[in-house]
Amino acid sequence: MTTAGRQGRLPAEREDHYMRLRGAHVVGTRALLAVRENIRAAIDAKAMICIYGPTGHGKSMAVNASLRDLAPQITHRIQFRARPSTRDLRHELFHALGLPGRPPSHAIEFDRTLRGALEEPRVLVCDEAQWLSKLCFEYLRYLWDDTSTDLTIIFTGGNGCFEMLQSEPMLESRVYAWQEIDPMALDEVLTVIPAFHPVWTQADPDLIAMCDREAAHGNFRAWAKITHHLTAGLKQTARTTVDEDLLRWAYSKLGRRAA
Ligand SMILES: Nc1ncnc2c1ncn2[C@@H]1O[C@H](COP(=O)(O)OP(=O)(O)OP(=O)(O)O)[C@@H](O)[C@H]1O
Ligand SMILES: [Mg+2]
Repeated sequence: MTTAGRQGRLPAEREDHYMRLRGAHVVGTRALLAVRENIRAAIDAKAMICIYGPTGHGKSMAVNASLRDLAPQITHRIQFRARPSTRDLRHELFHALGLPGRPPSHAIEFDRTLRGALEEPRVLVCDEAQWLSKLCFEYLRYLWDDTSTDLTIIFTGGNGCFEMLQSEPMLESRVYAWQEIDPMALDEVLTVIPAFHPVWTQADPDLIAMCDREAAHGNFRAWAKITHHLTAGLKQTARTTVDEDLLRWAYSKLGRRAA
């Protein structure tokens, strides 16, 4: 079980890029722009929202990039890779909020400490929310419902996140907006990929379309991975531009994947 970033703070932008891909830029995909608007509205309303969808489509990138612009100082991230207990959750919140001293040993005192800290405006990002148990959701709802707290919660996650939140009626009915992140359509790929990385700036749009059709399927992590291989391949072969052979070599590394 780990917390991303420095004690629950937003990671630096380069950490968001797949394997810290050099030269990569954050691009304004439709998904990212919609996430930014939903997060802006959620912060204004002090709401809970849920951003979900399959792996690699840019959820974490969109949430982090938006919050770096909108609320970097008051954003706190918690993330779990295994199912936490409410005790784990309390400790995770304590550390993510950067509270001083040692975590209180009694639940009542712990709750008072957390509620006190949440009286200041805070944005809490729960990444990989599908790992949270019913009791953890209940606990977050309890903190959010408290009229003295000033809390925005952004739930985000992959497979199962939507279903998990929907299966908690008390939580589901409080969620202000739901946003599913879809794969990029070809027209969007042709617009954003040339801006994503210098290797694509002058690339033939037909090559980009071929790569999307045969390998990337509108999945941004796949695009980043192919770009990583491609930059290595360009360097090894002392080439400066992408051609079909090199591109096929780069995405042959991904293995076969159905669209
Ligand atoms: N808007 C974007 N601009 C540039 N690169 C992006 C963008 N969105 C995604 N990427 C690239 O795709 C990778 C995967 O994105 P991200 O980690 O946000 O996916 P995810 O939907 O959170 O996946 P998972 O469900 O596995 O956590 C990023 O590390 C980054 O390299
Ligand atoms: Mg993610």
